[in-house]
Amino acid sequence: MAEAEIRFNFTSPRIIFGRGRINDLGQEVLNILKPRGISNPRIFLVTGTTSLRESGNLDKISMILKKSNINFELYGKAGKEPTTSILNDGKEIALEKKCDLIIGVGGGSVMDTAKGISGLITNGGIVEDYQAGREFLLPPKPFILIPTTSGTGSEVTNNSVVKNEKTGLKKSIRGLWASLALLDPELTLSLPKKYTAYSGADALVQAIEALVSKSANFISDFFSRKSIAYLGDTLPKVCDDLLNIDLREKMMLGSILGAISFANGKLGAVHGFAHPIGIKHDLPHGLICGLLLPHVMKYNIEVEQAAQKYSWIAGLFNYQKILVDYGTCPKSLPSSIKEKAKWAIKKIEDIFTYVDIPLKLSDLGIKEADLDDIVKDTTGSSLANNPRDTNKRTLRKILVHAL
Ligand SMILES: [Fe+2]
Repeated sequence: MAEAEIRFNFTSPRIIFGRGRINDLGQEVLNILKPRGISNPRIFLVTGTTSLRESGNLDKISMILKKSNINFELYGKAGKEPTTSILNDGKEIALEKKCDLIIGVGGGSVMDTAKGISGLITNGGIVEDYQAGREFLLPPKPFILIPTTSGTGSEVTNNSVVKNEKTGLKKSIRGLWASLALLDPELTLSLPKKYTAYSGADALVQAIEALVSKSANFISDFFSRKSIAYLGDTLPKVCDDLLNIDLREKMMLGSILGAISFANGKLGAVHGFAHPIGIKHDLPHGLICGLLLPHVMKYNIEVEQAAQKYSWIAGLFNYQKILVDYGTCPKSLPSSIKEKAKWAIKKIEDIFTYVDIPLKLSDLGIKEADLDDIVKDTTGSSLANNPRDTNKRTLRKILVHAL
């Protein structure tokens, strides 16, 4: 019998990775701008409000840029989530200051803010135009993304999720690829345990959703599997040993591999739920994603291909002997595909429990009366890529099981 034809599309920005690579930032800026005839650039530096400063990383980056004689305008307003006004105001300031390149340093919100500003500068208008369907027809202002967490993967995706302050809803704007993703695990050393757990859970969920997504392909599967192997093994360990650079490096590797996978292979129902729950209940994205993953896996397991791929995860985790002394999952791996898949789900519950992510929505204060409102706003491409089809009734059923 002839084998199935293999086809895939694959896109990724340029990536540089490694301990201490932040020291290359000045030279990288000059390299990007030199072909444009800019040798004395002005940078628009987008950061969060406090943590980059408190960690000492802002001083470090300032020194690196100064060493290359690069001036910058600091925009430290990217808070917990990108909003239409933060992006629109940022665009105006960056234009007024005649900035040549945007740098976003921080978590996913900061990087999404930098992306959106870069697109608005060259294409004009306001974020709301693009949320209403306008397309970015011109390339964005060159931008560099530098994550300080190992989780969101925003540095290698082309979309920015922005809260529309008029409607109260989050909506993506798309088509914004970074000139460079610069990943230095040393920048994550100061991340507190709680956010290490939440961002790491997000990364693991993304890799698993990309693995079973309807848009998963030959190449995204490679990235997902390697990502899941790194993250499953490392997440419990790094939460007990936050200053261990070897573990921080593995978390960042796992995160970037999973992000490359979902940038190409897409996500699933966990991410469909995550945006409305995050907004309505003001909860961290990674916390919601981690909590919901086992429940969505239990729903997806009825699809043969999903069960098959979950069984791969069981093989990876069994080989790594994750939480052998602390977990509650049976030690020996069962033989059938479906039982292996169930074993993998139990192991994921063990990992999340170990890093203090609850298994029930009621633990986060969400009640049955809240569910209809969540389901109403659970929409988007992530749902379309979930391996098992969903509708409003089945989505509600998943949430009832998660209560
Ligand atoms: Fe996510």
